[in-house]
Amino acid sequence: MAEGWVKAETAAPDTAANTVPAEGAGIIVRHGRSPVAVSTVDGVTCRVSAVCTHLHGVLSWNDAEHTWDCPLHGSRFTPSGDVLQGPTTAKLPAVD
Ligand code: FES
Repeated sequence: MAEGWVKAETAAPDTAANTVPAEGAGIIVRHGRSPVAVSTVDGVTCRVSAVCTHLHGVLSWNDAEHTWDCPLHGSRFTPSGDVLQGPTTAKLPAVD
């Protein structure tokens, strides 16, 4: 769990220059101290919290499935934060 938070703390700051990933990609940026998951799929860029709503693991982008996956207990989310797989039951909050 600590590794994900260390990576998030050292992620690029959330600036206009790096917040639109290439098609099919997802990146973690920092908005203040909060990690934000930014992805672009089918031309739509989504920005959601990168913190899993189960027990606060930091999510990783799954290139093959275009999902945000939690390395701790396996929860998976759509790019817009909807739950695809538990144990979590709560979607990721959107980030402006
Ligand atoms: S912390 Fe993400 S599934 Fe448990």
